[in-house]
Amino acid sequence: MRDELHKAESAVHELSATRLDRYYPRFHIAAEAGWLNDPNGMCCFQGRYHVYFQHHPFSARWGSPHWGHVSSDDLVTWRREPIAMAPSIPADVDGVYSGSAVVDDDGTLAVLYTGNVWRNGTDNDEGARQTQCLAVSADGVEFEKKGIVIDCPADVIDFRDPKVWKDGDTWYQVVGIRSLDNIGEVLLYTSPDLRSWEFDRVIYRADDPGVYMIECPDFIRLGDKWVLIICLMGMSPIGHDFRNQHNVGYVVGTWSPGEDFVPETGLRVLDGGANFYAPQSFEAPDGRRILTGWMGSFLSIPTQDDDGWCGQMTVLRELTLGDDNAVRMVPVAEFARLHTAQHDLGGFTVDENESRTLSDSADGRDVEIEFDLTSTTATRFGLSIGTPGGEEATVAFDAQLGRVVLDKHNGGLGERGYRSVAVTAGDSLRLRVLVDKPSVEVFVNEGEAVLSSFVFPSSPDRSISVFAETGHASVTGAVVREVGSIYEEG
Ligand code: FRU
Repeated sequence: MRDELHKAESAVHELSATRLDRYYPRFHIAAEAGWLNDPNGMCCFQGRYHVYFQHHPFSARWGSPHWGHVSSDDLVTWRREPIAMAPSIPADVDGVYSGSAVVDDDGTLAVLYTGNVWRNGTDNDEGARQTQCLAVSADGVEFEKKGIVIDCPADVIDFRDPKVWKDGDTWYQVVGIRSLDNIGEVLLYTSPDLRSWEFDRVIYRADDPGVYMIECPDFIRLGDKWVLIICLMGMSPIGHDFRNQHNVGYVVGTWSPGEDFVPETGLRVLDGGANFYAPQSFEAPDGRRILTGWMGSFLSIPTQDDDGWCGQMTVLRELTLGDDNAVRMVPVAEFARLHTAQHDLGGFTVDENESRTLSDSADGRDVEIEFDLTSTTATRFGLSIGTPGGEEATVAFDAQLGRVVLDKHNGGLGERGYRSVAVTAGDSLRLRVLVDKPSVEVFVNEGEAVLSSFVFPSSPDRSISVFAETGHASVTGAVVREVGSIYEEG
C-alpha cells in the first residue's frame, strides 16, 4: 500500500496548495483538500481519539475512497494524520469503503471495512462485489491489510459498512445490504476473534418498499435500550420528515445476543437538516456515546469547482436516550474549550416586525438563546444569519407549524429550500446554533431535535440577529460565544 499512499498524499498536498478558504470550516473536521464523506473507525486508542473518513484525495468529488485520518487527545483539537488506507489489494481495488474500529484483545487496533470492486472494472453500471475486510494497526496510523473476512452472500446485491462491537467474549457486527428483492436490510454477524464470522440473523428490514438499500448501520446500547441508526436509500418522505435524497433514521427497541431486535418505536429522525448522513458513533472511555455525521450532499456543492475541498463532519455530539425513547444529541461538553470570547446579552423583547443584532459577525459563533413562550406573541421568531433584509438563512420557530425551520430560501450559493423539525412547545424554547463558514447546526431544547445544513453565503460579512413577526418575542437570555479553530496548526 506504500506506493498508493504516497501518491494520495502528494495529491492532497498539491490540491491544498491552491485550496480556497472562503468556506473552509474553522471548527469542523474536513479533509485538508479533496473530497470527504462518511466518518469511519471512530475510537479511542492508546489514549488518543481517532476519526478516519472516506476520502478522495485526487479531487473535490467522490471517487475511489481512501481512509483519511485525524486524531485528537481532547476531542476538540485535531491533528492531521497521514492517509491511513488506500485501495491496494484485489478485494478493495475500487475503494476502501466505510467501516469501524475496535481494540482487539491483544491491544492492536482492528478495522473492519468494506472492500469495493466494480464488476465491470470501471463503475457501478454492472454493480460491485463488496466484501468485509480486516486491517490491523499497532499505532492507529499505519495499517496492514489482512484481506476478506466475510464474502458477499449469494443472495445479497450490495453489502457494506460493518460496525463492530464486543459483548462478553463475542464480537458482533452489523452490515447494511440490498437484498435480492431490492429491499434494504441490516444483517448481524458474530465472531470469536474478528477473523471468522458467522451469519446470525437479519435484524432489520425496511418497511418502505422504496428503500432499496440500507447503508452505514450503527447498533448501540443507550440506557437499557438498543438503538439502530440506519441510512435509507430510496425512502419516501413522511410528512415534513425524511426530505433528503437519502435519509438517516433510527429505531429504538430491545435486543440481547442470540435474539431478534424488537423495535418499540417507528423510524424517527436523528437530524432533520439537509446535510446529515452516514453518522457513526463510538463509546468514549468514560462511557459517553459520541457521534459525528457527514455533512455533504449527493447534489453539487459550491466548493467542488474551484475550492479544492468538499465535505465536513458535524461537531462531535453526545447521545442520550430520553424516557420517551427519543435520542437527544448535544455538542460534546469539550466543545466549550473552543470558545475564545463570550458576550452575554441578557434578556430583552423583540418587538413585532423588529430585529435586534446579537453579533456583528457570524465567523465561527456558538449562539444560545432562550425564548419565553408564555409571553411571546409572535407566530414566527428566531435568528437570522446574514444581512437582515438581504441574503440570510433563518432559524425560526414557526408557532403555526410547531416546528423549528432552518430556511435558506435566500441563503446564498448552492441548494436552497428549508428543513424543519417538530418540537414540543412548553413554556420556553431554547436554541443553540453553531455557525461556521459553510454550515449551520441547530440544537433545539438541549438536543430534543437537531438540524444540520450547509449555508454558503455569497459574502462573509454576515451578522446574527433575532427577529419576531406578527407579535413580539420575549428573550429570557442570549449568549454569543466566539469559536476558535480545531486544527492544531491554528
Ligand atoms: C455512504 C456510503 C457507504 C460507503 C461509502 C463509500 O455515504 O455510500 O455506504 O461505504 O459511502 O464512500
